[in-house]
Amino acid sequence: MSTIIVTGGAGFIGGNFVHYHLKEHPEDRIVCIDKLTYAGNLSTLASVMNNPNFRFVKLDICDREGIFKLFEEEKPDVVINFAAESHVDRSIEDPGIFLQTNIMGTATMMDACREYGNIRYHQVSTDEVYGDLPLDRPDLFFTETTPIHTSSPYSSSKAGADLLVMAYFRTYGLPVTISRCSNNYGPYHFPEKLIPLMIANCLNDKPLPVYGEGKNVRDWLYVEDHCKAIDLIVRNGSVGEVYNVGGHNEMANIDIVKLIIKELGKDESLITYVTDRKGHDLRYAIDPTKIHNELGWLPETKFADGIKKTIKWYLDNRSWWEEIISGEYQKYYDKMYGDSNNGDYL
Ligand code: NAD
Ligand code: DAU
Repeated sequence: MSTIIVTGGAGFIGGNFVHYHLKEHPEDRIVCIDKLTYAGNLSTLASVMNNPNFRFVKLDICDREGIFKLFEEEKPDVVINFAAESHVDRSIEDPGIFLQTNIMGTATMMDACREYGNIRYHQVSTDEVYGDLPLDRPDLFFTETTPIHTSSPYSSSKAGADLLVMAYFRTYGLPVTISRCSNNYGPYHFPEKLIPLMIANCLNDKPLPVYGEGKNVRDWLYVEDHCKAIDLIVRNGSVGEVYNVGGHNEMANIDIVKLIIKELGKDESLITYVTDRKGHDLRYAIDPTKIHNELGWLPETKFADGIKKTIKWYLDNRSWWEEIISGEYQKYYDKMYGDSNNGDYL
């Protein structure tokens, strides 16, 4: 039995990971740390709160004293760091908190790992650290040796964290791994991100804001496949290594939006083209050869099935996202897309 600290477990991927791990490895104990920012939602963890092998602690990964105290108490075997500010648009509005949480938080977690026995550390990173690829070169993919070349304050903060993780490996010998995954989709995805936003707006017959011409390409992976990859890396990966995670499922944003409209039986007249994101990355595409060859990982959920499952989840769990939309998040949404932003519509 291992004790695993999972940070950011009240968020989208961390929450899915908690559910995945408790199901796949019921013998392990999970201690989830989350600051419960606007993106953290305890209802995501409601069904595991009474599990004797699960503990939730409301804590900021930048709170050094609190983190060290928790390590002293829990004596973890493994730390998996999901906690982050994760939304590119927000990072463009206000970079500071991204640097604080994503870089300083990572340093704090790794310092605690060093202090309490050189604990195994996994950093959940992103394909965005590689920047973007041109739309007219479908032969190009991100490999683990593609140079770091970031575009947004978000991706720069994630890249800064990755560099720090590798520095802790080389300088202090901390046993680390990094996974760099492509865009995830699935249950518990916060409705500020493309897929859940489009599902929620479709269901509410609200405009579907597509940036620019909708031609930017993302490489979508069902969230459970990402969780499985992280689990494999933590168990069988080589320390000091980076693993790219992605399922060769590239799609233009506009095609995703049209697919969701079709699945929900709505009309394409809901599509509203809005001003493009500043510095908008054109195309992401992961080459997952390394994780496949070394760890035998392959994605299990095809996009056609995954998107149907996801839409069904949002239909079956309306209260989860309606509560978010009715609260604080609505203020952000109005600022980004509301009447005050009228002049920004194309
Ligand atoms: P999310 O925004 O849904 O969740 C982030 C969670 O971290 C929230 O619960 C939030 O409360 C918590 N958090 C934020 N700041 C914190 C702090 N200072 N201390 C403790 N907790 C804090 O994000 P997500 O989409 O689940 O992403 C999780 C991780 O995966 C991030 O590191 C992100 O960079 C990475 N990632 C995301 C994707 C994707 O498509 N969503 C793809 C690749 C990598
Ligand atoms: O690639 C991994 C990354 O994927 C993660 O590291 C990030 O944490 C995660 O948020 C995600 O970043 P993206 O910027 O790709 O995701 P987002 O859902 O914000 O946008 C996906 C695409 O859709 C992007 O090209 C911008 C576009 N978009 C997004 C929104 C929110 C729209 O056209 N309209 C929108 O309203």
